[in-house]
Amino acid sequence: MESMIEAINKRVSVRSYTDEPIEQEKKQKIMDVLQSPNKGPFGHQVRFALIDFSELDKNEARSLGTYGFASGAKSFIVSAIKDGLEGIPNGRAFVDLGHCFEKVILTATNLGLGTCWMGGTFKRTNFAKSINASDDEIVPAISPIGYARDRRTVRERAVRRFANSDHRKPWAELFFDGNVNNPLSKESVGGYAVPLESVRLGPSASNNQPWRIVYQKQQGAFNFYLKRTLGYNKFNGKIDLQLIDMGIAMCHFELSARERGLAGKWEVAMPARELGDAEYIATWKAL
Ligand SMILES: Cc1cc2nc3c(=O)[nH]c(=O)nc-3n(C[C@H](O)[C@H](O)[C@H](O)COP(=O)(O)O)c2cc1C
Repeated sequence: MESMIEAINKRVSVRSYTDEPIEQEKKQKIMDVLQSPNKGPFGHQVRFALIDFSELDKNEARSLGTYGFASGAKSFIVSAIKDGLEGIPNGRAFVDLGHCFEKVILTATNLGLGTCWMGGTFKRTNFAKSINASDDEIVPAISPIGYARDRRTVRERAVRRFANSDHRKPWAELFFDGNVNNPLSKESVGGYAVPLESVRLGPSASNNQPWRIVYQKQQGAFNFYLKRTLGYNKFNGKIDLQLIDMGIAMCHFELSARERGLAGKWEVAMPARELGDAEYIATWKAL
């Protein structure tokens, strides 16, 4: 088993691809993850498909496109979740989507393949067709998958600069000890410094890094919050990209904790644990 912590450290968004096809053996490994029971911590099912442009006719392939944000990509991972109030209580299906999809992304990273989360810059209705989405399903995100070109295109470099992709907020802005006035030090969390660092390194929509975590030492609890970026709302009014970011953070935290032998489980505290204007999502309870 490859190290997921290593994959988290290595992963970077790839928007320029070579022509080299993905070997059948690697494709199969990706398919195995796509077809495993993909249920997130909130219990929603996520459906995936691997779309290969070489198997589509030219018109179909052209109709998918990605507005030039994934140049040269020949294969895509497409995701679908159930739409509607029943399927998405409080939008938690988006968190589950982030959690499950990020596992796929990290598996691809370990296979030496490039990926890039895309929640905005793709033709949603056309990709929905490619996964045969039913009326009550939505396609929140896709990712190209393939071999990265040695050099980034000019456009890719511009996108990275615009999103400030190489920057991550320092610990003091993300992680807190007991309350938000108290930054959390690495020394005070022992082995949990690794899962927390894994959250910090994670990808997020427009690199907004909306995750905040408050550690409650007596309870062995890490409370996860979403601090929404002002003026950055749901895409198309329907796709909640920042809840997807939270699912990615939970995935990084959980995989890293498990790899380091730190036992724990997700809980949802009732009533929700308040934190100013940040939205409570879930708690990792160390066991
Ligand atoms: C939920 C989500 C949606 C994203 N949507 C897009 C997108 O539509 N187009 C794009 O080029 N990048 C998109 N990104 C990639 C981010 O811009 C990228 O993860 C961030 O800038 C950090 O860079 P890195 O992934 O190279 O570490 C998205 C990322 C996430 C997590």
